[in-house]
Amino acid sequence: MQIIFDESERLNRLIGDILELSKIESKRIPLHFSPVDLPAFVEHTINMLRPEANKKHIELISQVPDDLYMEADEDRLRQIFINLLSNGIAYTPEGGKVKVRVEPAGAEGDDERVRIVIQDTGIGIPKKDLPRIFERFYRVDKARSRSSGGTGLGLSIVKHLVELHHGTIKVDSEPGVGTKFTIELPVIH
Ligand SMILES: Nc1ncnc2c1ncn2[C@@H]1O[C@H](COP(=O)(O)OP(=O)(O)O)[C@@H](O)[C@H]1O
Ligand SMILES: [Mg+2]
Repeated sequence: MQIIFDESERLNRLIGDILELSKIESKRIPLHFSPVDLPAFVEHTINMLRPEANKKHIELISQVPDDLYMEADEDRLRQIFINLLSNGIAYTPEGGKVKVRVEPAGAEGDDERVRIVIQDTGIGIPKKDLPRIFERFYRVDKARSRSSGGTGLGLSIVKHLVELHHGTIKVDSEPGVGTKFTIELPVIH
């Protein structure tokens, strides 16, 4: 019964992620931009993941200056954070750290940008896999990812959502040391 239950939960997550990705890709879902109070937003989002982190004794740290705002689709922005933070927690051993930093990134062309850095002290990603991790269903280690409960679609959803916000995402990682995702998004749309 437990196996049937776990597998049906997994299928449910998979179907949910596939639906989500196809909606985002077909651009049938327009973004709803509104001002986001970043310190409050980050605190709220981190608190959603605290139980998951506590189970593994992982410390969640956030660093966001007061009075930092941006225009974004708040639900979509939350999806970006949740996917990256869940990965950070899933791929970091007990006792590690997952840190979020948000800061003004200066201007590129005409637009002011905000930089979001999500960094962990986890298992890292081998260099040869880095170019492929945003592909749908791509996983570095099938056995380990399966036990993490992921679907292999999280990062492709994140990448699409970042692009819908006209932003960029990059990843730096070192096996055994940790992984760092850096996102830059325009402040005004
Ligand atoms: N923070 C991270 N640390 C180490 N590996 C990661 C991290 N984030 C993602 N990965 C690797 O990239 C793969 C793709 O991530 P994702 O699209 O979220 O799928 P999954 O459902 O497997 O988590 C994961 O299977 C994992 O191997
Ligand atoms: Mg994931």
